[in-house]
Amino acid sequence: MASITIRNLDDTTKQMLRERAAQHGRSMEEEVRILLRGSAASPEPAATVLPAPVIDSIPGTLSGKRILLIITGGIAAYKSLDLIRRLRERGALVRPVMTRGACAFVTPLAVGALAADRVYTELFSREDEHDVGHIRLAREADLVLVAPATADFIGKMALGLADDLASTIILASDRPLLIAPAMNPVMWAAPAVQRNVQHLREDGVHIIGPTHGEMAESGEAGAGRMAEPLAIAAAAARLLDDRPKPLAGRSAVVTSGPTHEPIDPVRYIANRSSGKQGHAIAAELAALGAQVTLISGPVTIADPQGVTTIHVESARDMLSAVENCLPSDIAVMVAAVADWRASGESGEKIKKQPDQPPPALQLTENPDILRTVGHHEQRPALVVGFAAETQNLIDNARSKLERKGADLIVANDVSPSTGIMGGDRNQVRVVSKNGVENWPDMDKQAVAAKLAQEIADRFQTAMA
Ligand SMILES: Cc1cc2nc3c(=O)[nH]c(=O)nc-3n(C[C@H](O)[C@H](O)[C@H](O)COP(=O)(O)O)c2cc1C
Repeated sequence: MASITIRNLDDTTKQMLRERAAQHGRSMEEEVRILLRGSAASPEPAATVLPAPVIDSIPGTLSGKRILLIITGGIAAYKSLDLIRRLRERGALVRPVMTRGACAFVTPLAVGALAADRVYTELFSREDEHDVGHIRLAREADLVLVAPATADFIGKMALGLADDLASTIILASDRPLLIAPAMNPVMWAAPAVQRNVQHLREDGVHIIGPTHGEMAESGEAGAGRMAEPLAIAAAAARLLDDRPKPLAGRSAVVTSGPTHEPIDPVRYIANRSSGKQGHAIAAELAALGAQVTLISGPVTIADPQGVTTIHVESARDMLSAVENCLPSDIAVMVAAVADWRASGESGEKIKKQPDQPPPALQLTENPDILRTVGHHEQRPALVVGFAAETQNLIDNARSKLERKGADLIVANDVSPSTGIMGGDRNQVRVVSKNGVENWPDMDKQAVAAKLAQEIADRFQTAMA
């Protein structure tokens, strides 16, 4: 029903709906449903609630950008269907090209229907080649995106081979190139593949992923999964981003993910943070021109592009990595840092003793990274913290703002029912000394884009 309604809308309304949907990280159908239902009441009254600013066009959207999407023959080709939706939701025009291998995994019919364009598969096509179609396809694009990129296709790109339409387009194109490799972990680790990937990097090809995780086909796990469609769409948006760079020449340190606190050499205390929100914020600050260092706890997602990433395990490691980044203009402390660690980490694996009660786990307080940065003699001009709470969200965020010496606290309700911890979406309240702003439910990329813009605005005001 919703899709019939959308189809019947005029082009201007459709474009407004598309931008609104992309702003909230929803499909157009979801956006219509939410608009019809009316906005949900805020579950928690706040003393001073400022209206959320309306964004006319989301930073980082792909409105009107032409993306030539090359799908190659890997099992992750099924994810390209979702990728097409994500790109189109953000306003991109997607023109699909499929290799013969890709057509064995997903049908050109499904790809064409989702892209709302015809699918190009053949190099030697009388129909397309009367005007040298492969050259036209290569030139009529703002970005060439290969997702998934097979080991085979990466090899062809590295060698400059051109024996089918997709590989010929790559050689004929002078547009930015982004690839999302996807393959079995053993294939990804193969020296030949790594050599080819390195070649592509040196040639200026942008690479997103692969990430760690379970493989779709075999029950195997490791590095080789294609980056998630949302992350690929965000990377494409960043590459095509021609917005001004208000944070050019500024530095930012961002923390992300959980920390792991060792109990013995094999066991640790952890939490469910995925790093998705912190990594996205680091990437969005970089997109606004900042020089970003991301201090990441152990996560399974890919390092963001355009950011220097330092990997750490424990809260103590994270603190010393953050302090090494000072002085810095901006600090955004997103990581879910463990409040406590085991006191007296055992050097050997603690053995289960027959007929003995389980050993008691004694805890010691960890250093408070946000508080340290907020009161540091080299305190950044803007300090932003996150508050993950399951109760009294606003009260806790307000007291955190005060105690930790932060300028902004981004509060979110991480009760299991919200699905925020580890999930793709987030609904945040931004608490400052001026009051509380309720932001709508959005995907984490959209929260990151909006927060980065807010940080840039506040930083410029603070510096004025
Ligand atoms: C079931 C199956 C799954 C495959 N999955 C992948 C994959 O995920 N990544 C990859 O690099 N190759 C994969 N391959 C191998 C490619 O399909 C093969 O190298 C093919 O020649 C790629 O062609 P293309 O790069 O022209 O699309 C798979 C093959 C089969 C039969």
